[in-house]
Amino acid sequence: MSYLEIKNLQKRYTAKGPLIVDNMNLSIEKGEFIVFLGPSGCGKTTTIRMISGLEEISGGDITVDGESIVNKLPRERGVSMIFQSYAVWPHMTVYDNIAYPLKLQKLPKDEIKKRVQAAAEATEIQGLLKRYPAQMSGGQRQRVAVSRAIVVEPRLFLMDEPLSNLDAKLRVSMRTELKRIHTKQGSTSIFVTHDQSEAMSMADRIVVMYKGKIEQIGTPMEVYQDSATRFVAEFIGTPPTNFFDASIVREGQEIYARGEGFDYKVPSSLHSALAGYAGKEIDMGIRPEYIDILPDQRKQDGYFCDARIDFVEPQGSHSILITEIGANKNVKIHTVDHMDIKQGTKVSCHVKNGMVMFFDKESSKRIK
Ligand SMILES: Nc1ncnc2c1ncn2[C@@H]1O[C@H](COP(=O)(O)OP(=O)(O)OP(=O)(O)O)[C@@H](O)[C@H]1O
Ligand SMILES: [Mg+2]
Repeated sequence: MSYLEIKNLQKRYTAKGPLIVDNMNLSIEKGEFIVFLGPSGCGKTTTIRMISGLEEISGGDITVDGESIVNKLPRERGVSMIFQSYAVWPHMTVYDNIAYPLKLQKLPKDEIKKRVQAAAEATEIQGLLKRYPAQMSGGQRQRVAVSRAIVVEPRLFLMDEPLSNLDAKLRVSMRTELKRIHTKQGSTSIFVTHDQSEAMSMADRIVVMYKGKIEQIGTPMEVYQDSATRFVAEFIGTPPTNFFDASIVREGQEIYARGEGFDYKVPSSLHSALAGYAGKEIDMGIRPEYIDILPDQRKQDGYFCDARIDFVEPQGSHSILITEIGANKNVKIHTVDHMDIKQGTKVSCHVKNGMVMFFDKESSKRIK
């Protein structure tokens, strides 16, 4: 049994309302850093509020260390939560803000002092303990909120988009900071975001959610390279995966994925998975970095089309090329190095190392 188990968890806000969380099942190990990732409204906040006890569940169970917590009060659950609007109390000093939850627990003064010091050291605000929130930057206030959450030494640390109010640079440095605190405290953490790069850079495992359901659970590389559904392939990665409508055609021993403007000989490793799709339409997805181009239009293994480069967007370390293939007018290609290529150049496009994804049009599930 895992440390935290979510079993058939359900949520409706009203008796006849829609299922906002639809039969969620998830096991989390002690010490893991889990990220809930999904678009606005998919049920991320609702789910962690049910774990923290701020929201009632409509069905299912949540256990920690084998014991159900759903009938416990929030403060009996050993859970700390940080919210998107990291409410720190403006009329209290930083010290009092951090000490507050410990005072509620009626701990001895010495103990409180020791723990506030330790929490402030972990977030590197030990020099600010006498200040009031108004005298600090957004990032420093955020650290106060983090200190207040970790000072109770929670079994479970829940964070709901805690970085979304910070500027881009601070957001990136706070990511590292939060991971460092997580590791130092040995806590088990769930971090909510709709920012896929935040999820990729922080998570041990990402839980990709969509419309109240889990689309995929996996390490950052698993959800990226081995996306389980079309939604995951589209949502994760910048620029996003390129999609094409393709028909599966069988010719002798070969299988082709053909569509407007391209013809791709499918690698034999995918033959058995695709055999049942002969004569049918499927979605073909290729990530921008898995398209290789040859400016002299030579054709090699993995060839799928000729194209003309419409736009070049240099990014310093690499370039993003934009081209049109069939009905998809906005196909993006991520080059390996900075590539000095002119607008209007005719190229041949190849799928790198067979890194193509096929999806069933009806279920949106990966065919593999
Ligand atoms: N108190 C409530 N009463 C009724 N419906 C609610 C309530 N809170 C949330 N919802 C609905 O439940 C759905 C999920 O909301 P939730 O806040 O969990 O989404 P989220 O994934 O956290 O989104 P965001 O990224 O925008 O924060 C939404 O459709 C929302 O409108
Ligand atoms: Mg939310």
